[in-house]
Amino acid sequence: MHKCVVGDTSRIVQVLYNLVGNACKFTERGSIWVDASVSGNGEVVSVSVHDTGIGIPQDRLEDIFAPFAQVDMSTTRRYGGTGLGLNLVKQLVEAHGGAITVASRQGKGSVFTFTLRVWRDGQASPSPITDSTRRSMALAARKTTAEAAEDLESVRSSQA
Ligand SMILES: Nc1ncnc2c1ncn2[C@@H]1O[C@H](COP(=O)(O)OP(=O)(O)OP(=O)(O)O)[C@@H](O)[C@H]1O
Ligand SMILES: [Mg+2]
Repeated sequence: MHKCVVGDTSRIVQVLYNLVGNACKFTERGSIWVDASVSGNGEVVSVSVHDTGIGIPQDRLEDIFAPFAQVDMSTTRRYGGTGLGLNLVKQLVEAHGGAITVASRQGKGSVFTFTLRVWRDGQASPSPITDSTRRSMALAARKTTAEAAEDLESVRSSQA
């Protein structure tokens, strides 16, 4: 990776704030960790937020990104919130040409991965977002989440 790259810092912080906030809210025991990797010539960063929390049912993984979507109302009462965080995150990530993916095991934990573009410090502006940018960002997010989901299982079995 280039030594110094730039991105839309305030947006990245906002996305992380929401994902780490969720991880904290839905995890009573175990750990929460964030990691990042680069691909695409050092111009694509995948950031994953992992937790060992309550997890999300498989059939809800798609719609938790919709506005006001929460897994259940008892969860809402217990944990609070409005169900808007992930919708905002998705919109922010996609507005920057990136993608967000999730993998989860109920009762075991979750991992959310988002991709973002960075560019060399000093470079006038990043290249425009094309369909091919979006495709490669979506692919990178899916790949990282799939790998992280395997780790989620191994973390679990090593704790058992
Ligand atoms: N890390 C996670 N572990 C388990 N469930 C999660 C996790 N992140 C999100 N969810 C589920 O997805 C729902 C939607 O998340 P979202 O961040 O949009 O809303 P919220 O956290 O409930 O409220 P808000 O973010 O508006 O305060 C949550 O209510 C929860 O059911
Ligand atoms: Mg939230």
